[in-house]
Formats: sequence, structure tokens, C-alpha cells
Amino acid sequence: MEKRIYLDHAATTPLDNEVLEAMLPYLSQKFGNPSSLHSFGREAHDAIEDSRKKVADLIGAKEKEIIFTSGGTESDNLAIRGVAYLNKDKIKEEGPHIITSSIEHPAVLETCRDLEKEGFKVKYLKVDRYGFIDLEELKETISKGTFLITIMFANNEIGTIQDIEKIGKIAKDSGIIFHTDAVQAVGKLDIDVRRLNIDMLSISAHKIYGPKGVGALFVREGIRLKSIQTGGGHERGLRSGTENVPGIVGLGEACRLAKERMNEDTLHMTKLRDKLIKGVIENIEESYLNGHPEKRLPNNAHFRFTAVEGESLVLSLDQKGIAASTGSACSSKKLQASHVLLAIGLSPVEAHGSLRLTLGRENTEEEIDYVLDVLPDVVKRLREISPLWRKK
Ligand SMILES: Cc1ncc(COP(=O)(O)O)c(C=O)c1O
Repeated sequence: MEKRIYLDHAATTPLDNEVLEAMLPYLSQKFGNPSSLHSFGREAHDAIEDSRKKVADLIGAKEKEIIFTSGGTESDNLAIRGVAYLNKDKIKEEGPHIITSSIEHPAVLETCRDLEKEGFKVKYLKVDRYGFIDLEELKETISKGTFLITIMFANNEIGTIQDIEKIGKIAKDSGIIFHTDAVQAVGKLDIDVRRLNIDMLSISAHKIYGPKGVGALFVREGIRLKSIQTGGGHERGLRSGTENVPGIVGLGEACRLAKERMNEDTLHMTKLRDKLIKGVIENIEESYLNGHPEKRLPNNAHFRFTAVEGESLVLSLDQKGIAASTGSACSSKKLQASHVLLAIGLSPVEAHGSLRLTLGRENTEEEIDYVLDVLPDVVKRLREISPLWRKK
């Protein structure tokens, strides 16, 4: 088969074989409904509880603090709406009620925008050229009516890692609940929810070599949420609906593996990432790195190239067997300049010239060599036909 190199792990990861093996029995003979009292039900119930422990272990949480959901999007919705709807009485108080950032994933941004239509006031903090929020501005923005701060752990496009511990401390000192969308950070960074002062944290299985359509929300003991889905009262009444048992088993196993392999994976991906960044910046003129040079996810390399369109770059690389992205999988369909790149100060034209390469544990040094071999020529050819490229 033709060479194919997958460098789009921020969009989704392949399913790990061990994860698949763990899931298979729950797609066949172990099919019980976890709510049933008989042995089939108990078997499924025990598998869910075992997974809950594995998820909790990865982030330093207690088992009862993990709620299974259908993925990162639902976890974000449950966290934000769940807190907002319990604080409806605060709508009359001075805003902002919710503080977030301008570079969040749409799962957070659109949820906040929707809540604005219901009368909540939301402050979208600006970020600097690397994607960091200003902690002083965060402190100054907090007002009497503020009940929730939701800031992502690491950005899905440019990979920038926020100072989560300090943000959590600011929230804690002000008695405000702190939620973080950690979909891109979990499994790659050492996360301890207690050390980092996190009250709620969103996880998605398919970004950590687990299956799609399953995730979890950590909700610190004592924090109350209003359920956004009514029904049979599963997951402590917070997420009604018969549990996705194979998916949850897959998420648990993916978390167990992530914990076991984190150090090795991080070292491996960081080495490849740095080789990639160095190779691109040194060998392609007018190429730039987006995001912070060090405080970035170990697997993220995000570039922009003068006078080259990101979409054309992705399609040309695909012809060479390299799977890349311009940014997030969600915004790529819309052909709008990424809100993240505009927020860090790029012009719409610059933002359109971006390429995201996100590594995984299975990538090899030879694959990076191949990319470094192919990419300069692809950029050169696209520039030759670009009206924006000044001929030298
Ligand atoms: C930062 C972030 N949050 C949330 C999500 C949504 O997760 P899911 O696909 O599990 O709904 C993603 C997926 O790209 C993401 O990158």
C-alpha cells in the first residue's frame, strides 16, 4: 500500500489495540444493561465502575467525581449549562456571570453564546500573541455576579498551554467555580485536579486512542450541577440514558494506557515535534511557528507560511500521503479564518496560510524526515501559483 502518514492527532487518534481488545467483549457476549439486577447487568455495571476508577486515577480525582458523557462537547455543555442553570437568580446581578476566553473550542464558545441569549452575561477574555489570557485582567473582570470561569487547558489549534494552576487559584480565592476543557491536554500532560485547583474538567476518549462518542466530566465533590438531560437518573442523576458500556470501557482502558505511557509518549512526541519545527522554520523561507515555542502541547506543531493557503497545503500534502489539518476539524468545513488565529493577532490572510501537524505515539522519525523532505517543495509550488507571493 501507498505510504500514509497520520499527523492529525488533535482531530482524532487511532483506536489502540489494547483498547479495542478491552471493548470487544462488551460489544458481544457481555451485553447487559448496567441497571439490571441480574448477573448480566452486574457484569456491565462492574465494568463501568472499573473504568470510572481508571479515569479518576489519570487526573487525581475520586471515582464518584467522574460522570460519563458522550464526549468533550457534552462534557463542556453539562459543566457550563449545569452551573449556569443553578445560578439563574444571579442574572439580575452585575455581570459578567461567566468568564471564558476568545480561543475556546466551539463546544464552550457556542454554549456561552447560547447562554447569552438566555440573559447571562459572558466575558470573552482576549489573549496575547501566543494565546495566553492575562491573569491580571481575569482578576479585574471578576465581579459580584461571576459564578463560573471556563478556560481551556491547552488549545486545540495552536497547542498553547494556559497557566491552569494560577487560574484555578484565582477562581478559588474568589469562591468561583473553575471549569477547564482539557480534551487536548489529558493523556499528554500530568494533570492533578487538586493540585491545579480545578473544579470541573472535560475529557474525550477519541483524543487519547479511545473510541469516538464517549467522554467524561470530572465534577469536584460538593459542586452542584443541574442536569441538562432528563430521564432515568443515571450517573448520579446528571446524565440520564443507558450507559455506552463498550465506549466507557474503551475510555477507561485508554486512560489506563495514557497514564502508563505518558512519560515515554511525551518524550517521543516532543523529540519529533522539535525536529519538525526546526526543520520547517530553517528550511522554508517566511515560515513561522504559531503558539508559544515551549509552553505548547508535546504533539503540536502549528505553522503559517506567507502567501500559501492552508487548505491547498492540506490537499497537496494529502496527495503525498500526509494527513494534516489547517486547524480544528470543526472550523475546516466553514472556510472562515480561525477565530483562534485572529485572536492571537493574525490578519485573515495570514490566518488562512496555516498548517497544523499533530503527532501521536505511533509516529516515527522516518515519517518526520519524509515530511521535511516533501513540505518545502509543496510550499514552493503553491507559492509559484500564488498571486500573493512576491517574485524575487
Ligand atoms: C479542545 C476541545 N474541546 C472539545 C472538543 C470536542 O470533543 P468531542 O469531539 O469529544 O465532542 C474537541 C474536539 O476537537 C477539542 O479539541
